[in-house]
Amino acid sequence: MASITVTGPARIQGSLIPPGDKSISHRAVMFGALSEGESSYSHFLEAEDCLSTLNAFRAMGVPIDYQKGSGKITIHGVGLRGLKAPAGEIDLGNSGTSMRVMMGILAGQKFEVVLTGDPSLSSRPMRRVTDPLKKMGAQIKGKDNGNFAPITIRGGKLKGIEFDNRLASAQVKSAILFAGLYADGPTKIRESIFSRDHTERFLQAAGAPLKREGDWIVIEKAERLKPFQAQIPGDISAAAFFIVGAAMIPGSSLVVEKVCLNPTRTGLIRVLERMGASIQTQITQREPEPLGVIRVEGRKLKGTRIAKNEIPSLIDELPILMTAMAVAEGESLISGAEELRVKETDRIHSMAVNLNALGADLQELPDGCIIRGGVKLHGGKVTSFGDHRTAMSMAIAALTLEGEVVIEDTACVATSFPSFFEELSRLRR
Ligand code: S3P
Repeated sequence: MASITVTGPARIQGSLIPPGDKSISHRAVMFGALSEGESSYSHFLEAEDCLSTLNAFRAMGVPIDYQKGSGKITIHGVGLRGLKAPAGEIDLGNSGTSMRVMMGILAGQKFEVVLTGDPSLSSRPMRRVTDPLKKMGAQIKGKDNGNFAPITIRGGKLKGIEFDNRLASAQVKSAILFAGLYADGPTKIRESIFSRDHTERFLQAAGAPLKREGDWIVIEKAERLKPFQAQIPGDISAAAFFIVGAAMIPGSSLVVEKVCLNPTRTGLIRVLERMGASIQTQITQREPEPLGVIRVEGRKLKGTRIAKNEIPSLIDELPILMTAMAVAEGESLISGAEELRVKETDRIHSMAVNLNALGADLQELPDGCIIRGGVKLHGGKVTSFGDHRTAMSMAIAALTLEGEVVIEDTACVATSFPSFFEELSRLRR
């Protein structure tokens, strides 16, 4: 298990074009595969999670041209009803998005598929997706009544349902929207806290019968989807490590270019502003996804509170925000974030153990944490817990202190940001 030592203190200075957005890259493959004709994308995220989705569609008979390192992919779409049964099980590695969202597509196919994953993915809850898909008519089996992989799914005749997205999960919403493309009658989804809307944007651009009726998002059965030619925007969830690093380390200065500024993803910026950060955004493109530039200057931050209604807009940024809160002056509180306990690892626990090992004062709560900031962090030994975002958060924590942080088990950064440590060497001063 590869360990990496990061030495502090250091500032962050320079400019960054973040890797392609992970959520959009997954969907780019799915929509390309299901559309009729050729879709090509540039700046595709060549990380393990998105390659799991790409390989899954290849296994179901979709020709995809992709040259490693180019960021360009061309997908020869087979249409909504053109997928073929794979020769064996489909292994989705560490990728929750691949498994949950693909189940919605597989619910509409007339063949059986077995989906497997690594130990982390096999311990993540799936009933949030399998229960509503079963209600729509899919046959699904998995350990604990369809809650854990391996999941066996056989699609077929589906019917529309009305669904309240109580977990505010975009993965669940996306699975049901995909299944709705195959269902008789309208499928309606409602959410009281909005989750990321990339799937809705893709559906609209593909010409799918998607509309809004009051609080409901409504999707109807579709015959075909249009192909895409697009550049995938940079991932704000990847850039977040450097944005937060630059924001909390005085003397830092960072420009992030070509980054996705979709408002369902930019909770991080609003929280950093509340913490007193010097951060500016400029939108250079609005459709199909808002895109632009973020400029950050480092200064001392102060603590803040993050509550339930903000969580979906920054769910993946909470580990790095906890790092900022440990360093910031005053007390911070995160609540309503129990979903963090079922990510690639329990991220409340992984960050508590790691930050406290460096001298922080972070107290776990069932749905978040209290962080008493303003402490001077020191060097030490931490572990990723096999979780990419935990590993990257600890690498940035190391820049704020005098000493060395040894991070064990760092290979997992390849899940979402394979060039993270190269970018860190390039940007640190
Ligand atoms: C994702 C949605 C989020 C996020 C994950 C990617 C997506 O999960 O944490 O990294 O692409 O839809 P939930 O929707 O389950 O909160």
